[in-house]
Parts: sequence; C-alpha cells; structure tokens
Amino acid sequence: MQNQRIIGTPQDRVDGRAKVTGAAPYVADFAAGQPILQAHPVGSAIARGRILAMDTSRALAVPGVVEVFTHENRPRTSWFGSSWQDEVAPPGQPLRPLHDARILHSGQPIALVVAETYEAARHAANLVTVAYEEEAHHTDLGLRLGTAYVPPKTRSGTTPPPKPKGDVEAALAAAPVTHQARYSVAAEVHNAMEPHATTVIVEEGGALLIHDKIQGVMNTQATVCAIFGLAKEKVRVVTPYLGGGFGSGLRPHHQCFLAVMAALALNRSVKLVLPRDHQFFLAHRPQTEMLVALGATRDGKLTAIRHDAIAGTSTYEDHQEVVVNWTNLLYPAPNVSLSHKLVKLDIESPTDMRAPGAPIGLFAAESAMDELAEKLGMCPLQLRLVNHADTDEVSNKRHTSKELRAAYRMGAERFGWQGRPLAPRAMKDGHELVGWGMATGAWEAQMQTHHARVMLDGEGRATVGVATADIGTGTYTILTQIAAEALGLPMARVTVLLGDSLLPKAPVSGGSWTAASAGAAVDDACARLKAELLRLAQKKGRLLGATLEDLRFADGAMARWSDAGTAIPLADILGESGRDSLVADGKAGPDMLSQLRYSSHAHSAVFAEVRVDEALGQVRVTRMVQAVAAGRILNPKTARSQVIGGAVWGIGMALHEEAQEDHVLGRRMNHNLAEYHIPACADVPDIDVLFVEEHDPRTSPLGVKGLGEIGICGAPPAIANAVWHATGRRVRDLPMTIERVLGLKDTPA
Ligand code: MOS
Repeated sequence: MQNQRIIGTPQDRVDGRAKVTGAAPYVADFAAGQPILQAHPVGSAIARGRILAMDTSRALAVPGVVEVFTHENRPRTSWFGSSWQDEVAPPGQPLRPLHDARILHSGQPIALVVAETYEAARHAANLVTVAYEEEAHHTDLGLRLGTAYVPPKTRSGTTPPPKPKGDVEAALAAAPVTHQARYSVAAEVHNAMEPHATTVIVEEGGALLIHDKIQGVMNTQATVCAIFGLAKEKVRVVTPYLGGGFGSGLRPHHQCFLAVMAALALNRSVKLVLPRDHQFFLAHRPQTEMLVALGATRDGKLTAIRHDAIAGTSTYEDHQEVVVNWTNLLYPAPNVSLSHKLVKLDIESPTDMRAPGAPIGLFAAESAMDELAEKLGMCPLQLRLVNHADTDEVSNKRHTSKELRAAYRMGAERFGWQGRPLAPRAMKDGHELVGWGMATGAWEAQMQTHHARVMLDGEGRATVGVATADIGTGTYTILTQIAAEALGLPMARVTVLLGDSLLPKAPVSGGSWTAASAGAAVDDACARLKAELLRLAQKKGRLLGATLEDLRFADGAMARWSDAGTAIPLADILGESGRDSLVADGKAGPDMLSQLRYSSHAHSAVFAEVRVDEALGQVRVTRMVQAVAAGRILNPKTARSQVIGGAVWGIGMALHEEAQEDHVLGRRMNHNLAEYHIPACADVPDIDVLFVEEHDPRTSPLGVKGLGEIGICGAPPAIANAVWHATGRRVRDLPMTIERVLGLKDTPA
C-alpha cells in the first residue's frame, strides 16, 4: 500500500546543491592540498611493436621526481593474466600496464612518472625518451573488413545475433520492393566532464583507501585485490560522485592500476589525474560498418531483413555489442539474417558507450526503413506501424509491455507530423531547407542483483546504503524517494549513501538497470524494516493483531488506516524497545521465471526537425520530440533530464563526434576538445520529452524499465532522416559532417 505521493512526482536532485556549490567531492578533490604524490603517465608514440630501450635519467633528474616506473622496474603483480579481468571485461586478455615491452596501441601507457608536484611529474614525463622497434600496424577498419570473424566466445550479458530464418536471398530476389545500402558509424570517444582519475590514500597499517573514477566501486575493489594480491579488508574504494561515466567508467582503467602500483611500491599516497589528451586513448565506441537489405510487399509488409555489422576491436579483447538484433526486435519478417563480426585492429579496446550498439544498429535500420518508405511512396511512420512487432521475434518471447504504438501517436501529435510532405525539399524557410524525420528507439530493460540496507535512528531519520554509483543519472534522488515513500518519511529525513565498497553489494551502474534494481532492493529493505517495527510495537502491546497491510506509514509514524488515533511515531517504537537504531537488509534481482517467458524493452518514438543551409552544408537540429515508453517513471524531472542527455548525445553522434585516425601513424589525431567536436548549447534545441503511460509489473518489482540509455537510441536516425527530407541527400555515414552533407565526401553505396 502506498502512503504518500513522492514516487512519480518531480523532485529536485538531493545532491544538486552539493554539486553546484562544489561541496560534492570528485576523485581529484580528495586529499587536495595535502602532501600527496602526483603521477603522470607516458603514452606510446607507436601503434604496434616493442620498446627497445627507455631513458628515464633526465626525468629522474627533475627536482621533485621520486620515481619513474617502466616495464623494467615495475613491482610484481599477479602471475595470472586473468587477474586483470574485471566484472565486465569482454573475452580476452585485458591490457596490463607496464607488463612488458610490447606495444599494443598508440597512447598505451609505457611509463609512469611520480613526483612531489603535478607540474614536476608532467614536465618529467616529457623527458622520458623511448627507442621503439616498430611493426606494421593496422588501424583502418575499411582495409581490414576481409579479416572479420565471429567472436568465438560470447561476452557475458551480450546476446549474439539469432540463427538465420527462412531464405533471405531468395526473399529479397522475389520481393516487389527492395532497398539495400551500406551504413557506417565513426568511432566516438567518451568525453565525460570529469577526467579518469584515481587517488590512493595509504593508511596507517598499509590499508588502501582508493577513490577511483568508476561506475561501481566493487569492481575496482575486486580487480585491485586480484592484481596486487591484497585482502578485501585492506582495500576500500570510495567514489561518491562521478562527473559522468557513460560506460567509460564501467571498467577500472590503467590509471587506477598505475596509481595503486606506485602507492604500494613507494608506500605513499598517490594521485593520478589523466590529462584530457590521454582520455582519447583509453576507450571508445567502436567504429562500425554495416549492410542492410530489406524486401517488402507493395503495401510495405517486410518479407526479408538482412543486417550485417562489422566493428573494430583491439588485438587483445573481443569487445562485442548488440548492434543488429534491434532490427528484427522492432520488425518481424519471415526471412531474417543478422550477423555481427569483429576486426582486430592495433587500437585500445573499445568499451561500452551510452546504449552500446543500439544507436549504431538503429541508425542503419531506421535509415533503411526511411529509404524503403520513400521507394514505397509511403509515410515513414505508417511503414513502422504496418510492421509493428507484437512479439519479440529475436528471442521468441512476449513483451512484458510495449506501448510503442502510443509513443508513435503521442510523439507525432506533439511534433505535428501530420501533413508532412512525402517528397524531400518541399519545405523552405528563407535560405534554409527544412526537413522532418522520425525513428524508433529501443533498449533492453534489465535487472541485476543488488543488496541494500536501511537504518532507522532514534530521531526517526533513515539512512539507506547501496554500493552502486550515481553516475549523474539521479540515483541518490530516486532512492531517497523510494525509501521516503515506503517509510512514510519526508525526503529530508532520508539520507542515501552510495559509492562505498563497505556498503551492501551491487554491480556497476550501467545498462540502465540501476533504478529498477537498486530501487527494488531499497524497497525490499524498507519492507523488512517496517515488518520489524511492527513486531517491536506489538511486543509492547501496541497495534495488536495488525498486519503490515492494515498500516499506513506517514509523517514519521505508523497507524491503522482505519484509525488515525492509533499513530505511533517510529522513533517512539525504537525508544520503547530500548534501541538507538534499527537495521534491515534487502535484496532484489531478476525474476528468472519471468525472463524465460518474457522479453522487456523500453521504446521511444523520436521526431526531429532540421534546417540545412545548402550553401554551407550546415545542419541545425531545431526541434526534437521524444515520446518514451519505459514503464513507471519514478521522478519525471530527473527522467526528463536523462532522455535529454541521451538526445543531446544523439545530436553529437549524428552531426559532430568522430575520432579521427592518422592511419600512417596509427594514431588518433583529434585528441582534444577543440578538434573532437561535441554539441555545444547552440547545437541543442528545446527537446520535448513525453512519457507514455506503461504499466509493467513483470520487468521489475517497481514497474521500472530504466531511462539512462533510451534517449540516444533513436535520435541519430531521426536526424539523418530529417536531413534527407530537407535536402533529398541520403547521408549513410555518421557523423553527417559538412562535406558529407554537401556530397563532397561520399562512400560507395
Ligand atoms: Mo552504460 S554504456 O552500461 O554505462
């Protein structure tokens, strides 16, 4: 029985004030102003080969430099390569920093300078000289497509493409209307505001207190313990805030291992904050080449779907994503062939980036659907409705809930889609061409096992703890709402603690699963606490015969629904039983039985307007509507913010973001925010977010599907389709840079 109206109402972020006043400590803020060693890495200048010799003498001579670590003098770590495999590592051997003389990618850390000041460390890092033995490298995906392979081992949590169905080639040959084209998406680099950083405090007795930029403190704790052979009790990881993760913080990165290594070797506290340019050689969204072929009847019903993808990965790990399955998830067909392959390149391993795989695959699929609609002379939205999937044909399961039709309807109405001219180049405003495009988004709704604890104190205040992270998504706020509503306390009397490895166990915060999972665990802990409160009250002869269902928790008290006069303040129950506090542990995880029978996804309908200046090739996104069906919305304010964040990234993916390699050097060249473009405020219009009511008790106990990733999924194809509608030019490669929009840089169809 719900007592209050806190869940589902717009609430300010409980950590908002701390963040804007600077009171919220990020990794680099810890131990600020204290005498702590500062570290700076040296990155490889070549993409592949060996280090023949390193000269660190000039670096060591810089006043304040304490040590320069290389593969030749590094301390010992675990013998087992598998010790580097963190909680979410893909199949393969993770990079071991300073392990040996091998160079696996440009920018790979090959030395670490540790000094009394940051300036000394940075200066000395420039004085390390290296003699390399270079080997021929491959960084150009386009030249290596012939080496594509199906990864032999499936990455945990990643669904490989299903077996082919029917006969796609025959169906394509027989189809009255077909469309086939290649599409590509460039590699993108995570550029969270907060750089990757690790602060390692060596405490008395040798225990380590680690502040690491990570989306799950327990992942860092477990991996550090495995690599350095440390007991869990000796390693505490505390990261209360992240300045954005977006997947780049799912795995502990080399700066963490280097900082811990230096701290242990020197027995001193060490801080390592990666400079922005080093961020560009840490992780990325993989570059992906795709082919899509669609066959349809004259009334638009799909008879054949082919979607093949080839993505780049490193030579040492098979980073796989779900790229092609979305096409068949959204659209059924009797003949389907989906494939996803990898190509090994001499680059660092890719890693997850907001909705890994989905906006890549959906860009191709939803662009192809738009092109098919054009050939059919049909409204693109009508084509989606004709092919709406009532069940999930990829897994052959029913949907737990799917209000995509309602999302199309609401989004189209808000945008004013009706009356859109079918032909391109039909709308003009001054010197600009105007275009309207739409696309569908989808993301899997998941739950992971989370534990939670709630403690009620004698003042009637509750403290909630979970080891998960708030990666900027609003986790502190929604967990506060959930506990406040469950216990009948005002939000101001609930404190949520996150990001500490001493708190109840949780996995990394990712995959949009945290609200559903951590939320349900907190709700469970609160239910157990209430049961215990009732038991204590009845011991004192109060509320005899009452069950939890008979009780209302409100205003810091519990009372029979039927009689407000029975109210007892929660603090009094503790007082009467002679306790200072009361603690309850909760847990929540996926419902395996339900997962066998049902598939669960969040969906979105995205509508975009662009204005294109044809003389300049400049594209501006001037309007966007996203109608999102994602189950229960815990907090419309933070939820809207999540969808907007994803949509802005979708604009960046569509128009700006591209990690550019010099393939002669095998090196990423635009490794700074001046040359690697992301949307600025002027690139972002007002984004209209609508939430479609969706009741879903099967996905998670709270009915929540998650929102961290759905906002990006349909945005890039909606923008690409709008650019076609404005100009008549189909750009099949992201980002749609000026030269591509002008048709000056085309790739073969
Ligand atoms: Mo997300 S890309 O799982 O942080």
